[in-house]
Amino acid sequence: MEAKIYINTLEDTDKLAKIIASKLFPGFILGLTGDLGSGKTTFTKYLSKYMGIKDNLNSPTFTILKIYPNKKLNLYHMDVYRLENIGYDYELDDYIYGNGVSVIEWYQYITGMLPKELLKMSIQINDKGIREVTISGEGRYEEIVKDISNRYSN
Ligand SMILES: Nc1ncnc2c1ncn2[C@@H]1O[C@H](COP(=O)(O)OP(=O)(O)O)[C@@H](O)[C@H]1O
Ligand SMILES: [Mg+2]
Repeated sequence: MEAKIYINTLEDTDKLAKIIASKLFPGFILGLTGDLGSGKTTFTKYLSKYMGIKDNLNSPTFTILKIYPNKKLNLYHMDVYRLENIGYDYELDDYIYGNGVSVIEWYQYITGMLPKELLKMSIQINDKGIREVTISGEGRYEEIVKDISNRYSN
C-alpha cells in the first residue's frame, strides 16, 4: 500500500502534518527520507505543532536526537545522517521502542535498528519544483496509508 501526494506550498505540508498528527499512537515511528532540503525537518515542525508542542523545533543534525516533552505524546526527533557508515546507535533504542513518537530523518541508515513496522515517507522534489511525497507502511500503519490515500483522492 502506497499513497502519493503532491506538495506545492508550506500550507500543503501543514495539511499533511495535521492528518498524520491525528493518527499518532504511543510508539509510533515515522521514517523520513529525501535529499537535503526536501522538507523533512519542515514537515516535522508542523507535526510537532499539531502534537501540541510549543517549543520551536529545529534540525537535530549535530545532536542526532532532540527530545520534546509533551502533555500527550513526547516527540523524539532524530536525524541519523551521521550514522550512515555506522548503522546504529544503541542510545536511540530506548526512544525508538518507547512510548512517544519517533520521527527519524534518514531512517534508511539505521534500518537494522528499526522494527519492520513503521510509517515511511519519502520526499522527492521533481524537475518542476513540486514535492512528491510517497507514504507506505505495513501492519498497523497500512490502515493509515489507506486513509491518507482516500483523503487525497477526493
Ligand atoms: N512544502 C514546502 N514548500 C516550500 N518550501 C519548503 C517546503 N518544505 C520545505 N521547504 C523549504 O525547504 C528548505 C529545506 O527544508 P528542510 O525541512 O530543512 O529540509 P530537510 O530537513 O529535508 O533537509 C527550507 O527553507 C524550507 O522552508
Ligand atoms: Mg533536516
